Amino acid sequence: MQRAFLYDVLIIGSGAAGLATALKLSGDLKVAVLSKGALISGSTPWAQGGIAAVLDDNDDIQSHIHDTMNAGVGLCHEDAVTQTVSGGKDSIRWLKQQGVDFTRNDQGEKPNHYHLTKEGGHSHRRVVHAHDATGQAVASALCEQTASASNIDIFEHRVAVDLITNKKLFLPGNRCVGAYVLNRAENCVELFRARFVVIATGGAAKAYLYTSNPDGASGDGIAMAWRGGCRVANMEFNQFHPTCLYHPQAKSFLITEAVRGEGGTLHLPNGERFMHRFDERAELAPRDIVARAIDHEMKRLGADHLYLDISHKPAEFVKSHFPMIYETCLGFGIDITTDPIPIVPAAHYTCGGVLVDSRSRSDVNQLYVVGEASFTGLHGANRMASNSLLECIVFGHAAADDINRKADSVPAPPDAPAWDESQVTDSDEDVVISHNWDELRRFMWDYVGIVRTDKRLQRAKHRVDLLHQEILDYYSNYSVSNDLLELRNLVTVADLIICSAIQRKESRGLHYTLDYPDTQDSAQDTILTPVNYSTRDW
Ligand code: FAD
Ligand code: SIN
Repeated sequence: MQRAFLYDVLIIGSGAAGLATALKLSGDLKVAVLSKGALISGSTPWAQGGIAAVLDDNDDIQSHIHDTMNAGVGLCHEDAVTQTVSGGKDSIRWLKQQGVDFTRNDQGEKPNHYHLTKEGGHSHRRVVHAHDATGQAVASALCEQTASASNIDIFEHRVAVDLITNKKLFLPGNRCVGAYVLNRAENCVELFRARFVVIATGGAAKAYLYTSNPDGASGDGIAMAWRGGCRVANMEFNQFHPTCLYHPQAKSFLITEAVRGEGGTLHLPNGERFMHRFDERAELAPRDIVARAIDHEMKRLGADHLYLDISHKPAEFVKSHFPMIYETCLGFGIDITTDPIPIVPAAHYTCGGVLVDSRSRSDVNQLYVVGEASFTGLHGANRMASNSLLECIVFGHAAADDINRKADSVPAPPDAPAWDESQVTDSDEDVVISHNWDELRRFMWDYVGIVRTDKRLQRAKHRVDLLHQEILDYYSNYSVSNDLLELRNLVTVADLIICSAIQRKESRGLHYTLDYPDTQDSAQDTILTPVNYSTRDW
């Protein structure tokens, strides 16, 4: 007998975006929050640098808007930028109310004010942070509040498989009414019906071999929304973070951009600085420029990695500003107060996603998408550092406000059939999954990475088509598992990235191609529409 649940609001994902939405919903609404792993999961707890917000008297909203648009190279939507940036102060106040303890100046000019750090692209110090572990502070506080909210039920180790829409139920209308969800502990698929569904599943950086993201960033929500009939936009803009620790055991541990904001410098293996050759802002140029410069120098020199050095600063300064990075690097035998840090770029952030409006509404009624899974228009061709957690809060709250407003007028969801497993068996060859995972992530890294060409993209397209077919055949024949679901979503998202990259015949921000090195005069989003687009699982 299949377990079935009925809620007012189903939120798929428990990162900053999902929980900001959940906690802003009216206490009268019955809410379910799903997480693929434990409640604290996803990228949010890994965030280091902080949250951008205009809090200093010498800073102003126009300057934050200008910097964001500048980093986004003509593709940011000004209304989304204004909405996000204007929400900065309130978002920090709200996070403080939830219990987030941001670092304050203990001395100097403004004792007791929040300490503001600087990152690439920002013309002012405006990044609020909790030392170098901001995400952990945000995630802990929001999870604690969620766990104590009487209207919110938490479902951990649950993986949403697919959305249920009127269309899939052969009913009239264009509405989302729930999702099928794998219960990992009991290995069964459950039915969740809801009047409103919110996708908050994070990004898709696991499509690449090397990434700063934790396991699970497999673009599930983007793929589910696409299969459910939503448009996606600007998927070619994958942000590569310039400085991840290069160490065989480190699994792409991030070294925050705030290290450069506080004076850290980049060096070639011979000790020479090089960033001034690429941009007058040197180490504090926007991320696309710094990552591309590092990639260029590594390829030119045949080097495995370059170096980031903060050891010229007093040891106490380094340890007090970056305690978590100091301890983690020391664990790998690197004392950052005396030695340069070996670094490489790694896939970090998905700037594109499911197209939503200013209230986080997608193309399907009653389906909202928030956080990194969404495309609000904020980031353009390159996200400016520390704007994403802010977007999670601002657009999470916008979704909640919209749901609160409509709560009385949206009827209960229709019945939906139980998940049908009668046609599938348990797999006896899981090697297909592990092999395809590796193959996909490697060709995405080699062919759809920091520097692209038409030829490389065509090779990637050819391979992704073959893999897509093989994975869908496998999916049709065997019972679902977390690895299979992630692979199925990754191959869809990889296809969307490649198709978007092929469509863009210019270099702009994070999309750099040797075949079209110039930036065109007019900036246009790449929007893919499911009905016009031939992926076989749609
Ligand atoms: P996530 O926090 O990734 O959460 C996704 C949630 O969805 C998780 O709970 C996951 O379990 C769940 N989920 C996923 N798929 C499913 C499924 N199929 N079924 C059920 N649940 C599912 N941004 C900043 O602004 N400032 C920073 O300093 C910063 N530093 C960063 C450092 C690192 C190392 C990384 C990786 C990112 C950083 N970012 C930073 C980016 C930022 O952390 C993310 O963009 C943001 O946290 C995304 O939040 P989210 O809520 O959208 O998704
Ligand atoms: C960092 O701390 O460098 C990451 C900031 C971000 O991704 O916004």
